[in-house]
Amino acid sequence: MWLTSSSIGRKFVMALTGVCLVLFVTFHVLMNSVALLWPVAYNMICEFLGANWYALVASAGLAALFIIHIFYAVWLTVQNRRARGADRYLVNTRPPQVEWSSKNMLVLGIVILAFLVVHMTQFWAKMQLQELVSHELTALPEVAGTPASPAMGTLFLQLAFQQWWTPVVYIIGFVALWFHMNHGFWSMFHTIGWDNNTWINRLKCIGCWWTSIVVLLFTAQAIVFTVRAHDNYYLTNYELQEQYGEFWEARAEAVTTGFEAAAAKVMKSVPENDPAAMQAAQIKFFVEEAPAYVEEAQKVVEYAGKQCPDVSVKAVAQLGRFAQQLEQQIGYAKQLAPQENASNNE
Ligand code: HEM
Repeated sequence: MWLTSSSIGRKFVMALTGVCLVLFVTFHVLMNSVALLWPVAYNMICEFLGANWYALVASAGLAALFIIHIFYAVWLTVQNRRARGADRYLVNTRPPQVEWSSKNMLVLGIVILAFLVVHMTQFWAKMQLQELVSHELTALPEVAGTPASPAMGTLFLQLAFQQWWTPVVYIIGFVALWFHMNHGFWSMFHTIGWDNNTWINRLKCIGCWWTSIVVLLFTAQAIVFTVRAHDNYYLTNYELQEQYGEFWEARAEAVTTGFEAAAAKVMKSVPENDPAAMQAAQIKFFVEEAPAYVEEAQKVVEYAGKQCPDVSVKAVAQLGRFAQQLEQQIGYAKQLAPQENASNNE
């Protein structure tokens, strides 16, 4: 096939995947700008994208683009080196106007890849991947000692940018991105033949502006996120706390509805006209199953109190009272349990 068998076909694949990656990076920097200007809206976007089928399809497509782009880059480099043979070790015969970045595209790509490994570990693995793996409180990554839901994007900004080395790694990645994207931009047009004297200068100019705006925005974002993380802005901002509170409200409601459903199931499993069996089933339920709900409820109350100390979440307050009552009922059930066992053994 032309796209794999000829050198120009392979360059075309590089150009096509390159255009898509430039569009992704541009979209990404615009989305981060929402976090810069309106963090609450940013969390809404994180929740909307999450691990829904459309976001997963987009992520899989994006991963395929990166993999194809990298695979073809290595392939073309190996092919070029073979074609040039031993010449590559002699005095450099390239014309002097060939830019530094054009000779170092592979190395720049490797630096960006290294940045991406760190970046994916800090964000994607803790957000979209986490959402696919488990929603359990104990499985969620912790920020300031409290589990953070993948929908709380701002807490992951806090986690990443409170590390001193994060802005350092990011700025290195952005510098590599500037050189790589700047050269890649006009090189794409060169591949598809838009390289007459008038156009190549215009395209170089457009590419340079586009790349510089994207990279400057990323840099500004990294600086602002670092300053805010060190001020604990994402932990203390009232509006954000209210938003985190919505997560705990839903969790609190899930605990009570879960408890009610489990209790109803036990009641249904016993014949209604057998009060002794009904009482035994209730005691067993309170002794064996109910403590897990108390534990879950106490965790929700504790974590909500830590994560949003300045807002009062009604459902969480009710859950606290519910846990206290449940504890009392478990106490009574435990007192009755030995008598129940003894009467069963008779
Ligand atoms: C200030 C700089 C940046 C910040 C704060 C940032 C933040 C984020 C966040 C929050 C996610 C979402 C993870 C998720 O929901 O799964 C993400 C994903 C991603 N970022 Fe960045 N990012 C930055 C720069 C970059 C740059 C420069 C690149 C590329 C060169 C990049 C490539 C990606 C990719 C490939 C994903 C995965 C998208 C997906 O499939 O979900 N990011 N980033």
